[in-house]
Amino acid sequence: MSKKKTTECDIKDPSLAPAGDLRIQWAAREMPVLKLISNRFAKEKPLKDIRISACLHITTETANLALTLKAGGAELALCASNPLSTQDDAAACLVMEHGIPVFAIKGEDNETYYKHINSALDHRPHITMDDGADLVATIHKDRGELAKNIIGGTEETTTGVIRLRSLESANKLKYPIVAVNDAQTKHFFDNRYGTGQSTIDGITRATNILWAGKRVVICGYGWCGRGVSMRAKGLGAHVIVCEVEPIRALEAVMDGYQVMPLLEASKIGDIFITVTGGLNIIDREHMLAMKDGAIMANSGHFNAEINIPALESLTAEKKRIRSSVEQYTLSSGKSLFLLGEGRLINLAAAEGHPASVMDMSFANQALCAEYMVKRGKELKRRVYPVPEEVDKEVGKLKLKAMGITIDTLTAEQRKYLESWELGT
Ligand code: ADE
Repeated sequence: MSKKKTTECDIKDPSLAPAGDLRIQWAAREMPVLKLISNRFAKEKPLKDIRISACLHITTETANLALTLKAGGAELALCASNPLSTQDDAAACLVMEHGIPVFAIKGEDNETYYKHINSALDHRPHITMDDGADLVATIHKDRGELAKNIIGGTEETTTGVIRLRSLESANKLKYPIVAVNDAQTKHFFDNRYGTGQSTIDGITRATNILWAGKRVVICGYGWCGRGVSMRAKGLGAHVIVCEVEPIRALEAVMDGYQVMPLLEASKIGDIFITVTGGLNIIDREHMLAMKDGAIMANSGHFNAEINIPALESLTAEKKRIRSSVEQYTLSSGKSLFLLGEGRLINLAAAEGHPASVMDMSFANQALCAEYMVKRGKELKRRVYPVPEEVDKEVGKLKLKAMGITIDTLTAEQRKYLESWELGT
């Protein structure tokens, strides 16, 4: 029997594979760093006989990562890291054209989401790859017996790293994890330019609104908030930032944005975007204060930033009016609009970050998987940074792929920088 027929999977529609293949190849054109790694992996096979369970957004960019890991000799099983982010054609292509097991269907309910995580875990991984730490949390809560075979893991996103650090502080982390998110070549680019562009893209695709002249309220001024603010401003929006951390708030002020508490901003905002990683950021009191027609979207990892149960409790009538837009008519008669069910709007209504930034994020993932195989046994049950040499290498390769050369220090300049003697 052919491999295509026997690959284990739960996907929407295998006949989407050819369309997925074309889109995966399109993304690959913008992923030259990953391609270089893939070519080396194909020769050296650093992941030979290594089983990887990966819980990632199943997109064309993730498909290119999966093909790189497979080229390196890994046996992979993939599941989604969000119920709404799966690109069903990419999933179909991985299964049908490449024989990689995928368990992910766009729009899956919570029960199926966890069933799929468990299917990926049935693969008995040596390495876990996670985006948000749901896979690792499932191992720690329900499938602890798997940990004895696991060399280590990687984590893609800020929210996941925070959860894992909390496990580490409680002394409960069962194996070492590398925080890919914290690499400079990840968060400076993916979180800022990736989230910046793809959030605007998701909201635009969902609503077709004109940004120019709108009052856009951004909750959170971390790397993602900075990116979204910058892009909204670039489109002519009036940006208001709400932040709880004083230095970040100060930075937002000096970057030229208006800064105020969310309750005040609620009265004047047209569009509200949460990118905090926190809980119930937009709450009942804010919704009550909002103007008729206000639009709410989330681009943080979980759908916990907009208090949807509170919104439901205020609502007299709910209606889907476009594919990612729900109209909530409150008992007062006012309408509020929620995009993408409060899930990360860049993946729910658009295609996530462009391939060019995922190139660096996933180059880090691939190199950290290789690092885990080589060095994982020496590591403790801790959350580790991406090795500096990996981060630097990814940056260098990206510049090279972009055809950009830079200066180097002369011997005299290097000596000057290294010495303390030379002063005024
Ligand atoms: N996270 C954000 N954008 C993504 C993408 N395009 N692929 C995978 N993960 C992502």
